[in-house]
Amino acid sequence: MNSLSEADIVDVLSKINDLSRGKDIYSLGIVTNIHIKDNNVQITLEVESHRANAFEVIRNKVEKSVRSLPNVSNCIVILTAHSEKISNSSNNSDIADESSKSNPKKSIVVESNVKKFVAIASGKGGVGKSTTAVNIAVSLGIEGYRVGLLDADVYGPSQPRMLGVSGRPKAIHGDMVSPIKNHGISLMSMGLLVPDETAMVWRGPMVQSALTQMLNNVVWGDLDVMVIDLPPGTGDIQISLAQQVKLSGAVIVSTPQDIALLDVIKAMTMFEKAGVKVLGMVQNMSFWECPDCGRKDHIFGEDGVSLEASKRKLELLGQIPLNTNIRQASDSGSPVVISSPGSTEAKCYRDIGKKLIKDLEI
Ligand SMILES: Nc1ncnc2c1ncn2[C@@H]1O[C@H](COP(=O)(O)OP(=O)(O)OP(=O)(O)O)[C@@H](O)[C@H]1O
Ligand SMILES: [Mg+2]
Repeated sequence: MNSLSEADIVDVLSKINDLSRGKDIYSLGIVTNIHIKDNNVQITLEVESHRANAFEVIRNKVEKSVRSLPNVSNCIVILTAHSEKISNSSNNSDIADESSKSNPKKSIVVESNVKKFVAIASGKGGVGKSTTAVNIAVSLGIEGYRVGLLDADVYGPSQPRMLGVSGRPKAIHGDMVSPIKNHGISLMSMGLLVPDETAMVWRGPMVQSALTQMLNNVVWGDLDVMVIDLPPGTGDIQISLAQQVKLSGAVIVSTPQDIALLDVIKAMTMFEKAGVKVLGMVQNMSFWECPDCGRKDHIFGEDGVSLEASKRKLELLGQIPLNTNIRQASDSGSPVVISSPGSTEAKCYRDIGKKLIKDLEI
């Protein structure tokens, strides 16, 4: 096969017109990234969010045209949105409305191969959802289950770093890519698909399309469980996910602090309304233990999550300490259940994994 150059791709893109603008997509600056590796091409198109649905036709056309080049094995085209065109983007209910009005494509491929889907959620940001998700996923893998980790935080994906993976997913056939594997589990994340510098400001329909692609255009293989790391809040991604797959349940993560709990209650209400069972709660950053004297300090309060769980008759799945080891392990790409398997904190996550195995009947 002859080598492929960016100029070959630009040549194709310069012949595809954006009819509403009367010019080709390359001159219009819609193409923000072209990546070529081993005759596999990945292209990023950036459009105004309100044109996302209409642009699907052009996205398809680009894929087909580039694939038809003699020396291209595969081509994947990803749509992202302009931030400045988004009015009132912090209004979550507006976004959610837009998402729920559109007609989502139900996941077909992935549902037949995955036994259980579990979402790791919280109403609030920065409480440790992703850290909990990766440690639970790897714990389930250690127990011998086939596990996928879907980083549904398309705005701020953190799982590639936490699982210690980089690089692009390999294109396989048609429009499919393979997930990236490490520490015994398979990962898909927007962080693997678009360049770091790409602005992740998407709206309902685009998020839906991104999630659909990460669910259905990835060769996940047969999985016992797919752990889904959700972004904070109760917006478009949460709703879109509930529309696309049958969630077996959600795990709610919070710190014991009241303010975090208020947001968490909103998240639980959202799952209840969507008919998704809340499997239990995890109290993260429960206490800090002085390494010198062993004294425990409850920095964010003592029992906030356990009280809320018992009030709602939910299982308290675990109480994770606030611990430098956990943070350093996540930052270095080797979750604490792998890097310090004998530690108390690793045992906390492994125990949560064991409880979930029972709850999910896997
Ligand atoms: N138990 C813990 N002990 C120490 N550090 C922790 C703990 N849990 C999480 N962290 C650290 O806190 C930060 C936020 O955690 P994480 O990214 O998991 O939160 P998140 O809820 O997923 O955030 P976001 O809402 O941005 O997605 C990270 O730096 C992580 O390493
Ligand atoms: Mg996160």
